Amino acid sequence: MELPAAEPYKIKMVEPIYRSTRKEREQWIREAKYNLFNLRSEQVYIDLLTDSGTGAMSDRQWAAVMTGDESYAGSSSFYHLKETISLLFGFDYFLPTHQGRAAENVLFSVLVKEGNIIPGNSHFDTTKGHIEFRQATAADCTIYESLDPENLHPFKGNVDLDQLKNVLEAHARESIPFIILTLTCNSSGGQPVSMQNIREVKALADQYGIPLVFDSARFAENAWFIAHREAGYERKTIQEIVLEMFSYADAMTMSSKKDGIVNIGGFIATRKKEWYDQACTFNIMFEGFVTYGGMAGRDMNALAVGLMEVLEDDYLTSRIGQVQYLGEQLSKYGISVQKPYGGHAIFVDAKAFLPNVCQEEFIAQTLCVELYLESGVRAVEVGTLMADRDPITRENRYPQLEFMRLAIPRRVYTNLHLDVVATALKNVYDRRLAVTSGYKIVMEAPILRHFTIELERVVM
Ligand code: F0G
Repeated sequence: MELPAAEPYKIKMVEPIYRSTRKEREQWIREAKYNLFNLRSEQVYIDLLTDSGTGAMSDRQWAAVMTGDESYAGSSSFYHLKETISLLFGFDYFLPTHQGRAAENVLFSVLVKEGNIIPGNSHFDTTKGHIEFRQATAADCTIYESLDPENLHPFKGNVDLDQLKNVLEAHARESIPFIILTLTCNSSGGQPVSMQNIREVKALADQYGIPLVFDSARFAENAWFIAHREAGYERKTIQEIVLEMFSYADAMTMSSKKDGIVNIGGFIATRKKEWYDQACTFNIMFEGFVTYGGMAGRDMNALAVGLMEVLEDDYLTSRIGQVQYLGEQLSKYGISVQKPYGGHAIFVDAKAFLPNVCQEEFIAQTLCVELYLESGVRAVEVGTLMADRDPITRENRYPQLEFMRLAIPRRVYTNLHLDVVATALKNVYDRRLAVTSGYKIVMEAPILRHFTIELERVVM
């Protein structure tokens, strides 16, 4: 019999977690205005809010922390990271930033102007936020298959080339500063983009003379899917696949809090000197001097190690295997989730789960609150709240799919924790038809509202 892909590490340090009572949770979620971002972490038992900055660093990363160089300028940790980025991605120019959205802020300050169109595959909410904040438009060209949770297309993060071509045809070259590919595509369920699709997008980009940028937060997970699902890549190492992926890009923004396996950090890397030169000024204004950009030297050192560890096939197989494990548990209970299971999270189809709640009352958010009340498990809404209002009409944007995302931190929880999550959700599923109403908004911010929104129960 083949041996299971157990975790390729053992646990050296533990952090106690508290199992609260339902009565406590009822009070806490009320006080949090039914926004799970407002909960204190002690009020959460198993935290699947995000896989961002929540991973466990290795002993080698902690050792690198101790040798970090905290010089303001010219830190050896900066050069350690710069060499690693050049080796892995092939980019010679690199700027550290304090996290992924800061990289977007700096690079988009150079590239995005009012009235621009930025096509891509389901832009992440901060990416879209930084585009719309500059009075520009994000054009989503993801393949239609991504909208059907049961469709087993192996690369549901792919771009639909006809849609992309239509956008490129419909606008002047000067109004499209770049195309952005998100790898893996978080908003459509942690779904990968195939190498073939990357290559085809690159060919179209070249044809129209438009640069290509990667939002690379989960680049290694994307590469693992290519290795395991795409013909011709089965014998390549993850490192080889990553190098090929990025050979098609002009630049990358990175949230190191995901596949860098560090708790904070981000960066921009590019092969375009003119972009780098302009970005330096914004980096100094918004982030810090070009050799630290909002990161401590010790954090840059830990990131350089994390970027190498994340490429290990044993690590990725066990990490993605754990996400698949949760997906299988839920499917076994008849719960509809985005399939194939994604790389970092399971996306539960909230519309199918709660058929008696209307979209105006925020179905996925209602499900997140129910799961929290049941078990103290914290998930996140990827639905109408996250979709924000249309920047022009100010009407709610109702996405076709309402997801509750269960994101799994890297190297943090065991499969027994995930059994708790699955059982809790099954309990909610058993009483789902009794949930007939959701929430209404009492306070919201003009952009990226889901982080700070305040809600009230709709009483029937
Ligand atoms: N791009 C993608 C694809 C992301 O998933 C995120 C963050 C960012 C950019 C922004 O990076 O958080 O470092 O500023 N995603 C987190 C999440 C917040 O929970 O999925 P950041």
